[in-house]
Amino acid sequence: MVKVAMIGVGAISGIYLKNITTVFKEVELVGVCDLIPERAEKGVQTVKEYIEAGAKAPVPKIYKDMYEAFNDPEVEVVLNLTRPYEHYGVTKAALEHGKHVFSEKPLAADMEEGDELVALAEEKGLLMGGAPDTFMGAGIQTVRKLVDDGYIGDIVAANCAMICHGHETWHPDPEFYYKRAGGPMMDMGPYYVTALVQLIGEAKGVIGMTKKTFPERIITSEPHYGEKIDVDIDTHLTGSIAFANGAVAQICTTFDVHYAPGAQCRFELYGTRGTICVPDPNTFGGPVLVYRPEDQVNGQAIDPGLIAHNAPQYYTGYKEVPLLFDYNENSRALGLSDMCKALRTGRDFRANYQQQHHVLEILTSFEKSSREGRYIPLKTHYTRTAPMQNNPMHGILDE
Ligand SMILES: NC(=O)c1ccc[n+]([C@@H]2O[C@H](COP(=O)([O-])OP(=O)(O)OC[C@H]3O[C@@H](n4cnc5c(N)ncnc54)[C@H](O)[C@@H]3O)[C@@H](O)[C@H]2O)c1
Repeated sequence: MVKVAMIGVGAISGIYLKNITTVFKEVELVGVCDLIPERAEKGVQTVKEYIEAGAKAPVPKIYKDMYEAFNDPEVEVVLNLTRPYEHYGVTKAALEHGKHVFSEKPLAADMEEGDELVALAEEKGLLMGGAPDTFMGAGIQTVRKLVDDGYIGDIVAANCAMICHGHETWHPDPEFYYKRAGGPMMDMGPYYVTALVQLIGEAKGVIGMTKKTFPERIITSEPHYGEKIDVDIDTHLTGSIAFANGAVAQICTTFDVHYAPGAQCRFELYGTRGTICVPDPNTFGGPVLVYRPEDQVNGQAIDPGLIAHNAPQYYTGYKEVPLLFDYNENSRALGLSDMCKALRTGRDFRANYQQQHHVLEILTSFEKSSREGRYIPLKTHYTRTAPMQNNPMHGILDE
């Protein structure tokens, strides 16, 4: 059992509390800490309810501040669930206290911070990893298996978009989404870009065009209803990623566009022998849909551009592939659990800092490219981490 302290008990903490306490059997939450003490108390209360319902877990301590957690000899791993612009400070202090760290995304606010954290973790010989871990779920892992088995041939290109009008309609404290380290590329881009590098491999350069449509936002969620947020960063980011194997991906992430809920854009991966609709990479599940030339045999032999675009089904012509791996529900903390297994066994782990660092460089290069009006070659290198292995026991990672 690896003992973990949670720093930051805000909006995303609920699913971590649930999964650490009730799903992942090799991780134990020994303490929690938040700048707002009531949030830490609420987190402990949540765990108590799981224990009352039968979960085998200790009641976590409440630390008065993060340093008390870092000085607790019982704690081996710090789980950093603070806001994006706080990740660097919390992760750095935890590493300096000799703790392994798993952080929510992104790794840091910019590459200078990211480089420093990577150097520190390496100097100290500590494990460092972080979200997203959705790529370890059944959906993206099934796509990866199809790609690796050559099911759609060589990857030609990919196309993906995350379109919404921001988070101030539902998040209780949405300001951070519009400040340094926020914005749709740093917030939602990690899911898409991590999936892209997992499916295609190392990227070598980025070109981007980015902008800010609205200089201010009005919060319509509680408890800050009616308050104004000054937008400090670009909120519509679009661009292309060139991969080392010759594939090219287009990506758009935006908080500036109205879009019907539940109708997220298709994430498509194009190969020389077919196309895969990749499931929403912000989820762990499917569907995984495949279209290959042989599926066209019984189709109409006319210019596809002339076919009336009133097909009754969004995915007409695609075949759904059954999911081949475990973890198709919201399994946040899967990456943490995998890192904890690595700590005990000495094996590599999947949501590691080399991946976070490469992804951070891609995420931050769109705005840089747009500002400087040029293609940005990447300096970080990347080797894909191991595919998932099905293990008979749900909640226990492979050796
Ligand atoms: N909200 C979501 O749906 C969601 C989904 C996936 C990932 N995330 C990621 O999770 C992270 C947190 O997001 P959130 O929505 O939970 O934010 P949040 O603002 O709701 O919670 C962050 C919490 O961290 C606490 N905190 C900050 N610095 C601290 C410190 N030094 N010591 C103790 N506590 C500290 C804050 O008081 C706050 O309660 C972000 O990186 C975000 O990108 C959020």
